[in-house]
Amino acid sequence: MCGIIGYVGNRPAQGILLKGLKRLEYRGYDSSGISVIHSQKNKISTRKSPGKIANLENLLIKSSLCGNIGIAHVRWATHGAPTQANAHPHRDCKGEIAIVHNGIIENYASLKSSLIKEGHYFKSQTDTEVIVHLIEKFYKRIPLEEAVRKALKLLDGSFALGVISSREPDKLIGARSSSPLIVGVGKGENFLASDVPAVLDSTKEVIFLEENELVVLTKPRIKITNIDGSVISRDSTRITWDIAEAQKQGYKHFMLKEINEQPKIAENILKLRLQKETNRIFFEEQKIPQEKLKKIKQISIVACGTAYHAGLVGKYILEAICKIPVSVDVSSEFRYRNLLIDNETLVIAVSQSGETADTLAGIREARKLGSSVLSICNVPGSSLTRESDGLIYTHAGPEMGVASTKAYTAQLLAFYLLAFYLANIRNVLSQEQIAQYFAELKKIPGQQKKILKDQDAIARLSRRHSHFGSFLYLGRQINFPSALEGALKLKEISYIPAEGYAAGEMKHGPIALIDEYRAVVCIVNESHVYEKMLSNLQEIRARDGKLIAIASSGDKKIKVQAKEVIYVPRCDELFSPLLVALPLQLIAYHIARKRGCDVDQPRNLAKSVTVE
Ligand code: AGP
Repeated sequence: MCGIIGYVGNRPAQGILLKGLKRLEYRGYDSSGISVIHSQKNKISTRKSPGKIANLENLLIKSSLCGNIGIAHVRWATHGAPTQANAHPHRDCKGEIAIVHNGIIENYASLKSSLIKEGHYFKSQTDTEVIVHLIEKFYKRIPLEEAVRKALKLLDGSFALGVISSREPDKLIGARSSSPLIVGVGKGENFLASDVPAVLDSTKEVIFLEENELVVLTKPRIKITNIDGSVISRDSTRITWDIAEAQKQGYKHFMLKEINEQPKIAENILKLRLQKETNRIFFEEQKIPQEKLKKIKQISIVACGTAYHAGLVGKYILEAICKIPVSVDVSSEFRYRNLLIDNETLVIAVSQSGETADTLAGIREARKLGSSVLSICNVPGSSLTRESDGLIYTHAGPEMGVASTKAYTAQLLAFYLLAFYLANIRNVLSQEQIAQYFAELKKIPGQQKKILKDQDAIARLSRRHSHFGSFLYLGRQINFPSALEGALKLKEISYIPAEGYAAGEMKHGPIALIDEYRAVVCIVNESHVYEKMLSNLQEIRARDGKLIAIASSGDKKIKVQAKEVIYVPRCDELFSPLLVALPLQLIAYHIARKRGCDVDQPRNLAKSVTVE
């Protein structure tokens, strides 16, 4: 997704903006650009380039930009190819205004044709460019802030904007609707950005802008107003994690670092959430009244991608522990479906970023129908957290790799803890049962550590299979979603076609795929369907499929069926997704690396899909 950074202060803007852009690279992009108002000449200079930020830096080495107010952008192409002309910032006809944008303007075509009729000249194919010409149109007679406000009211769609003008060279204006935007609060300087890492080198004090808010930044001041102009006061939030956490800390890739962080994160979450003596659970940010939760008749989970797979595991967990019927939808289907939900439905939204457009749209539909929305989210202050009735933060820390790993297992942990929390409120579990479950749960960090101790062997096994042109992932019951997630991990970073399937479905089609050119990853840990999985392995072997089995330590039968085995510690099958996720992540990571893929920023993907 696109990334925005803006600066106004006493320091040279160029270096600050470039550094901020680099902190946003993880969002995925294919061009970048920068505009700075020249301090003496009061004119805007712009440099833009397709490709990586290094290309933009080369332009700036040849001719740098001097000034202490500016905006910069990494673009993830939607309307128009990643070319120099389509890169942001975009300028008005006279070059007095520059703008950067994250989002999609749905009605840009009609706006563009009327602006062209009025004599405006367009240089790009983007939707964004209509915004700067609209501002130009209104800027003839009113101040920049008001011109921006008027322009925004004509836009349909989503936007997070940064705007500067050489006619008011002390102002940096920001505005948001459906796309995230924050203010970095400095001393005698202020920042605008799509996400926190972009400003952390300079400040830990941030203000999260809310829906349809506009901000005017100068060196000394921050003025927030709503779209109609009334002033809003908002305290800043102190960010507790530092930029180092958002860096690689010696790992080759963010993704490998984040895979290896999982035991520590699990440990921290359990420490934070479980009250040792009483086994009570703390969800201080969960504000839905317990009385309401007691009356819930059904749960509807809504999410995308990996978060959706966490939701599918959540279904097995909640139905097993709380005995509440649970449905799970991908957000893009949920938001347009004829929803049979009401005020006795608990809608659980799962999202690492809290900015996924379809998930946000889904909860807005749910709330219109009277359902309470509980969000499981990793980013405090994100849009989702501000539009939910109740929250469970996953506390996975910043996840920089586009492929989600630690956030996924943290989402799973949130579901286990939520299930125990609801079971307690609804008295569906005895204290002994809860204590037993907790005892199992507390073993997980140590068991994850054990798996990671074998990661070199998993790496070697993965590389031995990196030449296969397609993969099938099979699992049953609570590990059917694990199979889906394993397939997604592989396809999104190695670009190898990979499909997750319920193993019981083999005879209904997928078995036709099996031959010596197909690698098949089977999740065959100790479970009530273990023998069924063994039969699937036999079916695959009989057709020369190349098997990789993920099995429980001490399994004596598996070696008869599979040469390539990755062992995970034995555990109650209910908790096994927390363990099998790790080898699945490592298989994807090492195959992608062997294939020379860009593991942290896979092609065509963005860390947060803030547009439909
Ligand atoms: C996961 O590896 C992908 N990057 C993607 O499927 C992601 O899970 C999905 O876009 C949802 O993102 P969210 O959790 O931020 O809502």
